[in-house]
Amino acid sequence: MSDAGFPTFPAGFSFGVATAAYQIEGAVGADGRGESVWDTFCRRPGAIRDGHTGDVADDHYHRWPEDVALMAALGIDTYRFSLAWPRIQPAGSGAVNAAGLDFYDRLVDSLVANGITPMPTLFHWDLPQPLEDAGGWLSRDTAYRFAEFAAIAATRLADRVPLWITLNEPFVVTAFGYALGVHAPGRTLLLGALPTAHHQLLGHGLATAALRAAGVRQVAIANNYSPAWAASDRPADVAAAAAYDILHNRLYTDPLLLVRYPDLSAFGVGAAGLECVRDGDLAIVSAPIDALGVNYYAPTRLSAPTDSALPFSMQPIPGYPLTAFGNPVVPAGLTELLTTLARRYGSRLPPVYVTENGCSFADEPDAAGQIADADRIDYLDGHIRAVADAMAAGVDVRGYLVWSLLDNFEWAEGYHQRFGLVHVDYDTLRRTPKESFGWYRDAIAAQRARAPRT
Ligand code: FCB
Repeated sequence: MSDAGFPTFPAGFSFGVATAAYQIEGAVGADGRGESVWDTFCRRPGAIRDGHTGDVADDHYHRWPEDVALMAALGIDTYRFSLAWPRIQPAGSGAVNAAGLDFYDRLVDSLVANGITPMPTLFHWDLPQPLEDAGGWLSRDTAYRFAEFAAIAATRLADRVPLWITLNEPFVVTAFGYALGVHAPGRTLLLGALPTAHHQLLGHGLATAALRAAGVRQVAIANNYSPAWAASDRPADVAAAAAYDILHNRLYTDPLLLVRYPDLSAFGVGAAGLECVRDGDLAIVSAPIDALGVNYYAPTRLSAPTDSALPFSMQPIPGYPLTAFGNPVVPAGLTELLTTLARRYGSRLPPVYVTENGCSFADEPDAAGQIADADRIDYLDGHIRAVADAMAAGVDVRGYLVWSLLDNFEWAEGYHQRFGLVHVDYDTLRRTPKESFGWYRDAIAAQRARAPRT
């Protein structure tokens, strides 16, 4: 598969970048946008490192033409971004804010004019606050509201947007948002958060039907996956890894592809399973999808629980370089995860897009204004090769999207983690492409030269 040291991908393979609305847009009070749970959470003392907020972020809401120009210079095929539900439907139900839809309409037009395929995500964590006040994802009703929002967005944009992603990383919403409280909405319900898993999946299924009714051709969901490594071959550690695998890797995928929830007995959930699941729900949840979005950052190493209420404890993974976030850099983990998905789900696994992969480092300009991020180039090079390895092993991967185009608001970490191919100076909002930007541009151009777009 290799040519000039870099793998060659099939002609239709997409390279791209990914972002999310709350992390880049800013302009939280502009043009009728409503409040989201992240606006509220950012005001909670101590919630976000150094009290940072997404109020300004990268000001992409006003600077998007410059950002589209950067993407055009990069030569990408696909741009994954998210639609801010509170911009389009400020109360989360009912009235539509025309200015919000207009913003995304212009963005989509500009992408298409630049030869870039838009790939919107409908929910990348910015739930309208009024819906949270009514129970958020703990409430079944939120799933129905989500499907209504999906229909509104698709009715406007489906003519120019082939592939839509319903949810981003529902695992993280349940775990960080409702179980541990480190993300919005900051609830600390531990296993009491489990209904948010089902209600999000129900929302995905209802939204899938709504999107198709509005003329959408391809629907996907973006899940976060992490190979679960047992700390040793002791049975207790192996069982801990299996329990974690269920929670992180299977809970949000088995219902979609196997029409059942995995066995949650290790978590004290009885044979009846999740009590909020109603007759007929799994048929809605498992409506056929056209692609699976895979977000990958690092594996997780597990041992038998020590002081944990959960059936596992997380352990560090020694022996690998670390990103600024402290994640070990393990490209082979991406091959492992893609081949595991193919083995686990067989012919039920739809084509896969790597919808997020990337790393944060403490990138700052040198005296000459250059941002030399060789560690990011190594990271991306290793992970793109890992995708090629999975494809050589038979996995049907259709695209690879770097997280992220720009340095941005990294949730609880505020502006401390820089994931961008483009550096953002948060005082001036000036964008400066890093060396990795040029490397990715050249890699895409070389791929095009070897396998022209069809
Ligand atoms: C993922 C999120 C994305 C970004 C990256 C670093 O979990 O989907 O918004 O924060 O992590």
